[in-house]
Amino acid sequence: MENKRRLVLVPCPLQGHLSPMLDLATTLHSKGFFITIAHTQFNSPNPSNHPDFVFLPISDGLTENDLLSGDFLDFIATINTNCEGPLKECLVPMVDQVACIIYDTMMYLGETVANHLKLPSIILRTSGATALAAYGAMPALQEAGYLPLQDSMLQELVPQFYPLRFKDLPLGISKSLESILQLLSIVCIIRTSSAIIWNTMDYLEHPALEKLRQDHQIPIFSIGPLFKFASTTSSSLLEQDSNCIPWLNNQAPNSVLYISLGSLVSVNEREIAEMAWGLANSGQPFLWVVRPGSVLGSQWIELLPEGFEEVIGERGLIVKWAPQREVLAHGAVGGFWSHCGWNSTMESFCEGVPMICSPNKGDQKVNARFISCVWKVGLELVNGLERREIETVIRKLMLDKESGEIRQRAADLKEKVELCVKKGGSSYNSLNDLAEYILSL
Ligand code: UDX
Repeated sequence: MENKRRLVLVPCPLQGHLSPMLDLATTLHSKGFFITIAHTQFNSPNPSNHPDFVFLPISDGLTENDLLSGDFLDFIATINTNCEGPLKECLVPMVDQVACIIYDTMMYLGETVANHLKLPSIILRTSGATALAAYGAMPALQEAGYLPLQDSMLQELVPQFYPLRFKDLPLGISKSLESILQLLSIVCIIRTSSAIIWNTMDYLEHPALEKLRQDHQIPIFSIGPLFKFASTTSSSLLEQDSNCIPWLNNQAPNSVLYISLGSLVSVNEREIAEMAWGLANSGQPFLWVVRPGSVLGSQWIELLPEGFEEVIGERGLIVKWAPQREVLAHGAVGGFWSHCGWNSTMESFCEGVPMICSPNKGDQKVNARFISCVWKVGLELVNGLERREIETVIRKLMLDKESGEIRQRAADLKEKVELCVKKGGSSYNSLNDLAEYILSL
């Protein structure tokens, strides 16, 4: 029975990548496939949350230095180099049972190992299609002399990429432009993989998906948001503090601003103070996730400005990590101030929560621009983290009549997501096509 129904999934060991891969695993398991998760020891998922899967820990050889270097691309390159040999070795004994290897874009060793074992491979893209298209445009922009970016060009529109400005290009994930372009040459070009699974919806990113379909000439299955098909099993690497739910139960409908900058972004002492005073001066109730270690130079919230505890006592709650999907689904939450990581963006869309956009790097900047200018369900903080603008934008989103249209569009978007994932919807159909496709390999 198991013959050729086993799928080996290779997630990238970062929260925003791991969750959609595990959601995909749960979804494909419900379609009758057997699942093996080949994962690094670093940020290992918790097997007890997924008793139906086989977990295969791969020796990643990461040193303390690799984890602290801070350069995302060096980190990705090291994992790929270190894990290739161990993954091959682990898979050799089971190769006859495996239908294909599904790997995260960043874990391109998945393709090399699949070729070595003469197995088909499929890519999972965990970020938006528009952002990938923006990455894909960068080599040509460099050739045309636009990169490295000049300050004088930052506010200008990128040719043929309306409404993206040069400042929105997905840079900032590495100190060196050369290493970004080098990674792009690996992740944007499809070499031998047979198909792409995309954690997005046709409705949302139709133009970018169409362009990518024309360029790539292999099947692209857009089956997002993946978590809508998966059970509610948590794949959180940090413990989620559920005490915020009873606190939210005591707040008025749509009154609370939820704030989270995701699993990777850090802020400095000045920025956390600007955020705190902007929040304080807005007068709005808030639930704020401050991830331990995310404020540079401190363990947790030691660097919050003096006097801010009183504001918390009056109308705020700070937690280390929240059950974010549950929070966004709570009726008391009326806005989400986010770094616009792709998972957070889709989770907000699913619950119809309008956003305040504070992108930091990479795809977040593209997502933020589209949230505010194309999907029009959020407001952008144009001056980074600055208290007066924060106060104004919070009031505008949470209190002004003007924001009624944004709120309505967010509610409409929620309905569209529901249509995509329900029977006959584009993501629902695409998921069934994917299952058939895998069986045909
Ligand atoms: C990173 C990049 O920043 C992002 O741009 C890219 O698209 C994916 O990788 P990350 O910072 O982890 O993502 O943000 P995001 O993609 O939004 O994922 C964060 C996940 O953590 C979400 O699924 C969110 O629900 C979860 N989360 C966040 C919690 O469970 N609790 C929290 O308190 C905060």
